[in-house]
Amino acid sequence: MTRVFTDTVLAADIAEGLARVKTLFESQLTSPFPAVNDLCRHVERYRGKMLRPTLVLVSGLAFTRETESLRSEHSIIAATVEMIHMATLVHDDVLDDAQVRRRGETVNFLRGNEAAVMLGDYLISNAFHLCSRAHDPALNLRLGEVTNTLCEGELVQLSRRHDLSLDENTYFEIVRRKTAVLVGASCELGAQLAGASTEDVVAMRQFGEHLGVAFQIQDDLLDLLGDEATVGKSILRDLEKGKLTLPMILHIARTHGAPRARALEAIEAKDSVALRDALTASGSIDAARAKAVAIVEEAKRGLPQTQRSHARELLLELADRIVARDA
Ligand code: FPP
Ligand code: MG
Repeated sequence: MTRVFTDTVLAADIAEGLARVKTLFESQLTSPFPAVNDLCRHVERYRGKMLRPTLVLVSGLAFTRETESLRSEHSIIAATVEMIHMATLVHDDVLDDAQVRRRGETVNFLRGNEAAVMLGDYLISNAFHLCSRAHDPALNLRLGEVTNTLCEGELVQLSRRHDLSLDENTYFEIVRRKTAVLVGASCELGAQLAGASTEDVVAMRQFGEHLGVAFQIQDDLLDLLGDEATVGKSILRDLEKGKLTLPMILHIARTHGAPRARALEAIEAKDSVALRDALTASGSIDAARAKAVAIVEEAKRGLPQTQRSHARELLLELADRIVARDA
């Protein structure tokens, strides 16, 4: 990453937008019941990178004249996509039996699966309630499509756990659905609300979806190679839960004989040390990383020209950060 982000006006616009998102998020999740409120306050600690709301805001700013501001709908959609994301994380941690998220305890670890399932439901219900406050049914419809797709991705993934024949195309289909569509919709809706042309809105969705796929590949690499303290969440969940990820799929497809057998044994025995060794030796870790980088490059090439060039530069920088991150 060589670019340095120096546009102070844009930085102030984004900081202001994110502050509005935080306020909306907290006011939407306020209940008179401490049993509900305590869990909502706990889950707010999960807010980390704020990637999705940032993409809504920056995509919006990219198609807004310097003299104009973002619309109130931008803040609503930015807070909504973050709330959808939180709901999926709370449910995902139940599915993955995860104990740590954003350096804190998961809801399922702290309060059990029943509370976590209900909290995820509460978050998703509130996300659509919040979205309705924009009084634009098309936004609810679009985000409803996104959450349908996201659940389909998870259900397909669930049906293919422990399936060593999972191929690269199916992996990408799962990842596109479970992760990329929400990131794509964040860019798409940010641009659309700012009045971008249909062509640019489609290009922004594609840009976001590419980022989402690269994000998940990097996430899967961190699950296999990272350490819990740095990543800040439970690792080796994919291996534990029988989820085949890109380096494993590439290794199985590209190697033969002993190296292939060693990796298959390691996956079945959930032996992370042996698996890392086998995938590193075959170059499959590097190959997966290279794919993520290539997808980010494709995203950057497809990014349309925008009103505000500094916002476009920031989108390019955010794209690079997706594959450079270690948490
Ligand atoms: C992260 O996977 C998980 C997702 C991106 C999607 C999870 C979605 C669901 C569980 C469906 C719930 C849907 C709604 C609408 C509430 P990961 O385990 O690879 O990521 P991690 O490393 O962050 O845990
Ligand atoms: Mg998980």
